[in-house]
Amino acid sequence: MSNDAATIDYLARQQLTGRGFVVLGVGAGIGSAVCAALSQAGAKLLCVDSKKEVAEAAAARFGGIAAAANVTDRADMEAVFAQAERQFGGSFAGVVNVVGVPMPGAIAALDDEQTQRQLDLTLRPAILVTQLAAPRLAARGGGSVVFVGSLAAEVSTLNIALYGVGKAAVNKLAAAAAHEFGPGKVRFNVVSPGRIVSSGVVPISPETLARIEQAVPLRRAGTPADIAGVVLFLLSDLAGYVTGTVIPVDGGVGRISALPESAPRSK
Ligand SMILES: NC(=O)c1ccc[n+]([C@@H]2O[C@H](COP(=O)([O-])OP(=O)(O)OC[C@H]3O[C@@H](n4cnc5c(N)ncnc54)[C@H](O)[C@@H]3O)[C@@H](O)[C@H]2O)c1
Repeated sequence: MSNDAATIDYLARQQLTGRGFVVLGVGAGIGSAVCAALSQAGAKLLCVDSKKEVAEAAAARFGGIAAAANVTDRADMEAVFAQAERQFGGSFAGVVNVVGVPMPGAIAALDDEQTQRQLDLTLRPAILVTQLAAPRLAARGGGSVVFVGSLAAEVSTLNIALYGVGKAAVNKLAAAAAHEFGPGKVRFNVVSPGRIVSSGVVPISPETLARIEQAVPLRRAGTPADIAGVVLFLLSDLAGYVTGTVIPVDGGVGRISALPESAPRSK
């Protein structure tokens, strides 16, 4: 690889040609957009979802192989990454975890079972990817892992507090895993969406959408494509020196204060 910055082919570094990626959670919305972006960049895909028909639809649409699996189940994830090794061989290059389902409710309203389930649906897939996929990637000479996080990890959003706690732990895990697997050339990063208009479990009313647009500096909600573009960047060689980070993709809303504006200085 040339080190002369002026002669480097930067667009070639954006390509994933022939590399194999596992995408976890490929339903309509962010997962589907991630599959589209990776497929366009030349990647080979293993499309995983708990709903078999969803995995099969994504695989058919984006030219991958389908697998039905629960990303919170260790045996299922072991089988998925063993399949990725068989399918991709030495070109197994990375994993994207999209699954992270909010279970809305005030902190005190969630019982033990719901609390554990909320942590399982946010943190556990990232832990299993780190424990089961990263050693395989390191053994092949490296790779890139991206977790889809959430703005809720950084700032409080009422009714999804424990979801935010799980996502904050994912951010911490990415930093720690980047440290531990850095010598094995496995990169870990988090893409942290703000409010995304997608076909996710919680539909957005026109009134809520108007409030989102007013609150966000860029004056719009995010789209699945906004997330997929940054995932593609992080998986590619363009991000070859980026690891352990959280990249907010939120139109800037995570960096503004909810306090009233300061009065202008009087002359
Ligand atoms: N939509 C938003 O506004 C928003 C905001 C911040 C963060 N996020 C994050 O983005 C990601 C995707 O959000 P989305 O709204 O596009 O989700 P989505 O519900 O559209 O997609 C999630 C996919 O994961 C699958 N899935 C759910 N549980 C699973 C399990 N246990 N095992 C395997 N597959 C499972 C579903 O079938 C679905 O296809 C999540 O991590 C979420 O936390 C979304």
